[in-house]
Amino acid sequence: MPKLGGLEKVKSDLRKVEKMKIVACGTARHAGLVGQYLFEELSGIATEVDYASEFRYRKSVWDDRSAVLAISQSGETADTLAAIREANEKGVITLGITNTVGSTLSRETTAGVYNHIGPEISVASSKAFTSQLVILVLMAVNFGRMRQLSLIEGRNILQEVHNIPVKIQKILQQNDHIRDIANRYKDYTNFGFLGRKYNYPIAIEGALKLKEISYIHSEGYPSGELKHGSIALIDPEFPSMFIAPNDSVYDKNISNMEEIASRKGKIIAVATEGNEEISRVADDVIYIPDTLECLTPLLTAIPMQLFAYHVASLKGLDIDQPRNLAKSVTVE
Ligand code: G6P
Repeated sequence: MPKLGGLEKVKSDLRKVEKMKIVACGTARHAGLVGQYLFEELSGIATEVDYASEFRYRKSVWDDRSAVLAISQSGETADTLAAIREANEKGVITLGITNTVGSTLSRETTAGVYNHIGPEISVASSKAFTSQLVILVLMAVNFGRMRQLSLIEGRNILQEVHNIPVKIQKILQQNDHIRDIANRYKDYTNFGFLGRKYNYPIAIEGALKLKEISYIHSEGYPSGELKHGSIALIDPEFPSMFIAPNDSVYDKNISNMEEIASRKGKIIAVATEGNEEISRVADDVIYIPDTLECLTPLLTAIPMQLFAYHVASLKGLDIDQPRNLAKSVTVE
């Protein structure tokens, strides 16, 4: 079982939790969405994710088996803090994941985990996101071991977490390839990002990254929703980034890709190494090493970040300080 020192003091309370509400903003909320899949699959805890800005104005229903988890790199985001204050008032256990030691979030939650990744300078969150995902995996295994997750399953996941840095290095080695792709797609004015299950949150994160720093209109959505609206947008001028690693929803993703290709929409696929057949439907492919399904977001997020980085850089834009955005949004 992974030891998370910051949660030790509430360990016995955490055993009783049956419902988790994750609240966050921006990229941190996307990490929370991956957390939802992790917590439900590995820990058996019913989990909902909310925009902190919505949560604070909704009437939430609580009971003594509920907990709230706030995720915030800065620990100072006004809406996220308001959500935590509301939960504290109701007497619910509040947990936090933050990178900022001594931040308001760290002081106002009952317990939590620090990212300890050093300061993140760029407005668009990148290393904080990766670290939030790792912590959520560790929490899910921790909570799972208190409930349904076997020792062997838990160990298997943790061993693979150790392999992730080397696998990320392999993706970073494709930097030139990703820059070439970015160069070919940088002049499009619209972009779709699709993924399913664990990689649906990575699709919306990929769209956020691209719009934040390149100002290209980007939409992320779960690939199963394609036929419920977004497919109307597909034509040769509307490319899609499709996240389709070898996982339990791979076949579903392939049939969605075929729907896009048949309408002459260009596709960049993020796929697992060794998958040659994907080139049948995708115009370009970025490969990631094989890993456990629940850990694929840790790998698929990297091409999203690199792609957005290169598009913005090739357009001569300020990557660290994009227009109109602030690193920490301390007002409502
Ligand atoms: C701003 C930043 C985003 C960040 C969000 C939440 O919008 O530009 O990169 O994801 O705030 O910030 P937090 O510090 O709460 O994680």
